[in-house]
Amino acid sequence: MTPPQIYISRMLPTSAFELLRAVCNVRTWEDEMPPPRALFLREISDCDGVLLMLTEKLDAEALAAAPNLRVISNMAVGVDNVDIAAATARHIPVGHTPGVLTETSADLAFALLMAAARRLPEGERYVHTGQWKTWFPTQLLGQDIHGATLGIIGFGRIGQAVARRGKGFNMRLLYSGGRDDDAAQALGAEKRPLDDLLRESDFVSLHVPLKHETYHLISARELGLMKPNAILINTARGGIVDPEALYHALKDGKIAAAALDVTEPEPILPDDLLLTLDNCLIVPHIGSASVHTRTRMAVMAAENLLAGLRGDRLPYCVNPEVYDTGST
Ligand code: DGY
Repeated sequence: MTPPQIYISRMLPTSAFELLRAVCNVRTWEDEMPPPRALFLREISDCDGVLLMLTEKLDAEALAAAPNLRVISNMAVGVDNVDIAAATARHIPVGHTPGVLTETSADLAFALLMAAARRLPEGERYVHTGQWKTWFPTQLLGQDIHGATLGIIGFGRIGQAVARRGKGFNMRLLYSGGRDDDAAQALGAEKRPLDDLLRESDFVSLHVPLKHETYHLISARELGLMKPNAILINTARGGIVDPEALYHALKDGKIAAAALDVTEPEPILPDDLLLTLDNCLIVPHIGSASVHTRTRMAVMAAENLLAGLRGDRLPYCVNPEVYDTGST
């Protein structure tokens, strides 16, 4: 039997790559930059399976370009880059990587919260540019983290992991969204409607997936509800925050600071006004970027792909309804 043909849109850690190479004909894009769109469409045109990153759009056009496709595996928990409805209509299961990146992503969200609260990037620039001449009482004053109110929007796995970190810092916890009220109760987190959470929180951390309903969930109106000392942390997806509204809120002192792991567009353009602000800390989508977690994500993505190629149920499937029809 001819081995299945697969395309991998970036180099993977060896442990994951070897799993696939053992049973598939593999073509891999070896650059750090994403494969150009036309080449991507060409490469997947004869493929049974594709393992892709969040930088590749697997939309209706790409699906049409890949008539043999039997499984899609995304090396991310978020799947906003894949047209799930279109894949489901073709009975193609879509795999993703939940769970393995929860704690690592929460670590980064909390690191951003702390760095923005205590103005670490500004402090580092201050030292590196020779401005540190003495100690004085009003030098680089930031916000206290302990005892402050942390509002978590989206109380799923990562939101809850951030709440656990907040609890360790003796923060008051609020949350909106999510269905796990028992987990919230165990953490002492109180549920609030979104607007109340925004009004009451000193830190607001975003943990909702990007969907039609969450696009620009945080816009001028929502930023206007926040406290002037509030800090916004976004490690979810850039599209959840309206970047122009955020720029004005930061510039006009409507909120104190923002710390972003994700931007719209992504990557942020070099002339983006957010980059001109001292109170906006931005890192390049590194929420899950630890050696251990990225390796586990790659192996999980490989296992999803292999299951789909065998015709087995994907261990981590975004659209399990494809199995209802019995035709995968
Ligand atoms: C995800 O998995 O969705 C993250 O954004 C990247 O790890």
